[in-house]
Amino acid sequence: MTAVTTSLFPALPSPARAARLRTRLLQWYGENARDLPWRRTSDAYAILVSEAMLQQTQVATVVDYYRRFLKAFPDARSLADAKEEDVLALWSGLGYYRRARSLQSAARVMVTEHAGHFPGEEEAALDLPGVGRYTAGAVLSIAYGLPQALVDGNVERVFSRFFGLDGVSGSRELVAQCWELAELLVPQKRAGDWNQALMELGALICTPRQTDCAECPLKRSCQARKEGRVSELPRPKVRAPAKAMEVEMLFIRRGPRILLEQRADGQALGGLWQLPTRAIGSEGEGEGEGASGLFAEEWPGGLGAEDGPDLGRLRHGIMRFSIRARLRPGTARGRKGSALAWFEAEQLESLGLTAMARKALAGLKDWPPGTD
Ligand code: ADE
Repeated sequence: MTAVTTSLFPALPSPARAARLRTRLLQWYGENARDLPWRRTSDAYAILVSEAMLQQTQVATVVDYYRRFLKAFPDARSLADAKEEDVLALWSGLGYYRRARSLQSAARVMVTEHAGHFPGEEEAALDLPGVGRYTAGAVLSIAYGLPQALVDGNVERVFSRFFGLDGVSGSRELVAQCWELAELLVPQKRAGDWNQALMELGALICTPRQTDCAECPLKRSCQARKEGRVSELPRPKVRAPAKAMEVEMLFIRRGPRILLEQRADGQALGGLWQLPTRAIGSEGEGEGEGASGLFAEEWPGGLGAEDGPDLGRLRHGIMRFSIRARLRPGTARGRKGSALAWFEAEQLESLGLTAMARKALAGLKDWPPGTD
C-alpha cells in the first residue's frame, strides 16, 4: 500500500501548532472580517436570530431580513408575544420556515424559563427549540465569549482541507472528526472571534469552488494544498436527483384583489399563502399519493380553472422536487372553505407568501393592477 498523508484520522495538532494557527487566523480575521450587523452587537437574542437566518442562507440575503426582523421583534419577549403569521411574514423568502417557528418557540422558552435571556450554559441552551450543537456554540461563544466550539459547513471545509481529512461532506465520520478538532482548537479567549474567523475563511477564501488559496493566511501549512487536492476535499455527498413534479396554479382576480390559499399547519410550508394549487403528477409517486403531500390533487375549496391560454409557466425547486408549474386563469364560483382569502396587492408585501407564489406573481403581466 502506498502511504497517504490524508486520512480521516490525522495526528491532532500539537499545542504549538494550534497556537500558531489561532494567531494567524485571528489576525487575518481582524483585518478582513466583513462589517455585518450581527457583529456590532453582543445581544445573545440578536445573535440567535442571525444564526437562525444564516443556516442555509447567504449572508448577503440575510442582512435586510435581520434588520427588519429585529426592528419588529427587538427582544425575546416581543417575539414570544407575536402572532405566528407576523413572524412568518418577516421570514417570507428566506425559506425553511420551521426555523422561524422554532425561533419563536425558543423565544417563548427564554421568556418563561430564563427571564427573557438566552441561557449561559450549554445544557440549557441545547434545550431550546431549534438550538443544536452548532447554534449553542455560536451564541455562547459570540455573545458570551465562552470557549465553545462549533462546526458548520464552512468549518468542515476549512478543516478537511487544512488537516487533509479525506471524508465525505456531512458524513458522520467527517463531522465527528471536525468537532474533535474544533474543541481542541477553540481558544479560551476570543472564542467568538475564532469561530467567526473559521466561518469567514470558509465563506471568503476557502470556498467550495474557485478557492482563493493565494490570499489564505493558512496556505503554508494546508495539507490539501501541499497535496494539490484542495478542489477534491471535502468529498461531495452523493445526492439523490430531484424528482420531477407538475402542478397547476390558479390566478383568480376580482378588481384589485387576488384569491390566495393558506397552506395547512403541519404541512410543509404550513401557514404560508400560495396561489390555489393542485398537483398533476410527480415522478415516483403512485396514484392517489398526491405529490408526497406537498400539494393536493384537487383544486382547493371548490375552485376551478377556466378555459383559456396559460398565463405563465415556471420552474421551482423545493425540498427534493423540481416543480414545473402552469399558471391558469381560474374562477371563484362555488368557492367554499376557510383556507381561501382575498388580498390586495399592497398586502402581499407583508404577507407570508411562498417563494413559488412570489415567482408566479412577479411574472404576471397585469398584476399588480395598474401595471399593464
Ligand atoms: N455563518 C453563520 N454565522 C456566521 C458568523 N457569525 N460569521 C460568519 N459566518 C457565519
